[in-house]
Amino acid sequence: MKIKAKDRKPIYPYDEWKIVEESFDVETNLRDETIFAVGNGYIGMRGNFEEGYNGPDNSSVNGTYLNGFYESKPIVYGEEAYGYAEKSQTMLNVTDSKIIQLYVDGEPLDLFSGKLISYRRTLDMKEGVLTRDMTWESGTGKQVRIRIQRFACLARKHLAVISYEVTALNFDGEIVLVSALNGEVRNQVTMGDPRAGAAFAGQVLITEGKDQDGTFAALRQRTKNTRFALVCGMENQLETENTFRMEADAPEQMVRVKYTVTAHRERTIRLTKYISYHTSRDYPEEQLLALSKETLSEARQQGFDRLREEQRQFLKDFWSRSDVEIKGDLALQQSIRFNVFHLLQSVGRDGKTNIGAKGITGEGYEGHYFWDTETYIFPFFLYTNPAIGRQLLTYRYSILDKAKERARVMSQKGALYAWRTIGGEETSAYYPAGTAQYHINADIIYALKKYMHATEDLDFFIEAGAEMLFETARLWADLGDYIPRKGNRFCINEVTGPDEYTALVNNNLFTNMMAKDHLEFAYRMAQFLKEKHGQAFQSIAGKIGLQESEIAEWKRAAEHMYIPYDEELGIHPQDDSFLDRAVWNFENTPPDKYPLLLHYHPLVIYRRQVLKQADVVLALFLQGDRFTTAEKKRNYDYYEPITTHDSSLSPCIYSILAAELGYIDKAYNYFMYTARMDLDDIHDNVKDGIHTASMAGTWLSIVHGFAGFREYQGELSFHPVVPEKWEGYRFKITFKGRVIDIDVTRDAVTYTLLSGQPVTLQHFREEVSLAPGKSQTRSLKPKLEAVIFDLDGVITDTAEYHYQAWKQLADEIGVPFDREFNEQLKGIGRLESLELILSRGELQLTEAEKIALADRKNENYKQLIESISPDDLLPGILTLLKQLRENGVKIGLASASKNAPAVLEKLGITQYFDAIADASKIKKGKPDPEIFLTAADLLGVPYRNCIGIEDAEAGIAAIKEAQMTAVGVGNRETLKHADWIVDTTVELTFERLVEIKG
Ligand code: BG6
Ligand code: MG
Repeated sequence: MKIKAKDRKPIYPYDEWKIVEESFDVETNLRDETIFAVGNGYIGMRGNFEEGYNGPDNSSVNGTYLNGFYESKPIVYGEEAYGYAEKSQTMLNVTDSKIIQLYVDGEPLDLFSGKLISYRRTLDMKEGVLTRDMTWESGTGKQVRIRIQRFACLARKHLAVISYEVTALNFDGEIVLVSALNGEVRNQVTMGDPRAGAAFAGQVLITEGKDQDGTFAALRQRTKNTRFALVCGMENQLETENTFRMEADAPEQMVRVKYTVTAHRERTIRLTKYISYHTSRDYPEEQLLALSKETLSEARQQGFDRLREEQRQFLKDFWSRSDVEIKGDLALQQSIRFNVFHLLQSVGRDGKTNIGAKGITGEGYEGHYFWDTETYIFPFFLYTNPAIGRQLLTYRYSILDKAKERARVMSQKGALYAWRTIGGEETSAYYPAGTAQYHINADIIYALKKYMHATEDLDFFIEAGAEMLFETARLWADLGDYIPRKGNRFCINEVTGPDEYTALVNNNLFTNMMAKDHLEFAYRMAQFLKEKHGQAFQSIAGKIGLQESEIAEWKRAAEHMYIPYDEELGIHPQDDSFLDRAVWNFENTPPDKYPLLLHYHPLVIYRRQVLKQADVVLALFLQGDRFTTAEKKRNYDYYEPITTHDSSLSPCIYSILAAELGYIDKAYNYFMYTARMDLDDIHDNVKDGIHTASMAGTWLSIVHGFAGFREYQGELSFHPVVPEKWEGYRFKITFKGRVIDIDVTRDAVTYTLLSGQPVTLQHFREEVSLAPGKSQTRSLKPKLEAVIFDLDGVITDTAEYHYQAWKQLADEIGVPFDREFNEQLKGIGRLESLELILSRGELQLTEAEKIALADRKNENYKQLIESISPDDLLPGILTLLKQLRENGVKIGLASASKNAPAVLEKLGITQYFDAIADASKIKKGKPDPEIFLTAADLLGVPYRNCIGIEDAEAGIAAIKEAQMTAVGVGNRETLKHADWIVDTTVELTFERLVEIKG
């Protein structure tokens, strides 16, 4: 693992529901501004101070953002080519509305002057409020106590509020509060790091007008190029027992309201500022001002306290479905809540906006929406707040026309979604890692499919989903080709997969698998609509001119999809040429050269086997039902060592797969990296904004990772495990109108149906039915559920016959052979054994000749086993088989021998076996765990509840790899990795097996 886990002290003290900052630090101010950002999915405000900031240059970014509000400019290329993205889209820093300046007897409050006696800033995630408490002393010794509360109203898209309370502590005198809106705003200019924003040099939000009316004031602004109109308004409300006077003015690009108060000690003065933003992206321009006034006067009527209560209620409801409890780890408890809270603050819920890679907390990635939404963030919302899931998909529908236009530019039919965008147009200036990531189409449809399974929202499907599905399926059908040299399989060439350290390849495994899934879903849903909702189908088909032949072609392309596979390694190459590349020279890459993208030209990186992020491994997760566990394991083991995790999208996926494969420690380490990415500032770039995908990755790692939650074909399953350091965890899943509570402790898991109709789910391989309000508890302690036997040398002594048969052949062809060498052949398949034998001689043979020799050995062997009878069962085996049966323990066979079924017949014990893994269907023999995993899968028993019994070293290795308990029979030296070794099979008693499992 290339992860540099930062083992540092917490930046913010651990707390269940709060992020607290005990002192102000210029050095970390940029980061803190991101952490303490507030938002409601539309308005996002960085944690800038109301009084302004007088610190050193580049130690603050004063930012307020509106989701979906952007400016464009032409992208300038050194060398241009047809079809390149034409214009940028940059989320704009908009009117600064946070300003409230305080003057104490004429002296402005400023953290860089006077004396800061106390300081504490708290983001309370239960209340949804950011609070700053300070005691400050002016240069002339006048002390004030200040409490500032700020939030963007989650229940009111256009509204944010600030309550500013100031109390004179040791004096009576004049206090002035100035509340302002400032239109002079610009975006940050950053160079060098492609992950940061790339903005405009000057001001592009032009102030066009000002309005003032008593305590109300507004600024009217417009973007230079996109011509979007914006009205930012404020309403001010002063509460004080003291006398005061109010004045208003409007210098430069500002509007201001000034209160001069004759303050008396210990008499709190409170200014409430209501802030609104409305733009022509949502409403006709001429209505904006009226809407602003309406929003603000309604807010004023409510007053701060009621709005705050409304916020709390909103969050109460949110947490009741979205909270994840982690028992026994406060740091993680804090971070999961922080992550989930920021996702809510960042997500657009109006169907016209989405969720940016940095939310609305900073300018990193220009506020763009990526595949991050559907692949990482969407599942969290889908399974906790499906209505938000629907809105995210509605956004994609709203830009479908742009996707169709883009497909035309790319010489393709159907629709191609932009790799990165706000308004729907492609804005990625680097096509190899942008436009080439065609998989975004399938990612969006994958989310749609999951949405349909989880909600059965047919209305949405008919109104929007179907059109998206069919138009994007068209693109795949048109993009791929049946290539004769690839067996006329359907190939998708010249694309980039999720891993951005490899670009422009043929047949990216992830892309092809996702496209296959996409096409199958499109075909299935087209048939379904035709049969069940004929009219709706006709109208959609009519609208988009869909032909029967196209639907048939989706099916054909899916069936013929080319899936790259390497026989020798038994893995899926990431793409056609991936394995032809040399592996990156990890040993000679010092830690300070990571992330590689900041230190090497893309070509240098593309040339080697090195991954920025999960690619095949992501397919193993998303398309999990298309792979066996053995395949997942081989692929994971191959890709993990060559993945840098230079992308924050990577660790959570590796964590999920590691948990599935029983690598619990690895799963935990990756999880830790994901979970505290932002609170510990692991990538040192939180200053540019939060990492929304990685935040969602925390939720994915717990729910899909440790709890093993999967949904395939509308069925729910769970495989919970608990990392050693935890006492347990708990979360809820909303699915088809039901809310299910999953409470995992070290010993057991309890499933409770909190609301909705009865439901059946899978717990490991067991069906668990839940009735409303009822719980079902299942033990998580390992127990003996199945014994999986090797055959040769365990059940009967055919190992000896294999030896004799090989010996005879070896003598005939003149290759040295003895018992010691034979040990290596135990458990190994026929042809592999022959290769090992031949490697000791000089013979050069063709494939056909080798097969002939293997056949000859098998003939020898078959003669030897001719006379096998029940008498040849090794001692104790029959009793054991009977006892296992009587006690309901399942019995499986995992033998590499193709003669195994025949031998079992002769021994008269076939009827004892519940499952026999077919050696001829296994892709990789022992020591690969595949054959044991397959046997367990056939038995329907979780791996950890199986015992495997073996006489060969390779067999023990396979059992251990399968996360099962390994029992060795025979040689204590070669079998030393077994959990228990016996000299003879007589010792294999039922009681003893139960004991070692417990
Ligand atoms: C294993 C034996 O069980 O089966 C090996 O331990 C043997 O020695 C292998 O090579 C394959 O057996 P067969 O019967 O298919 O040749
Ligand atoms: Mg054996």
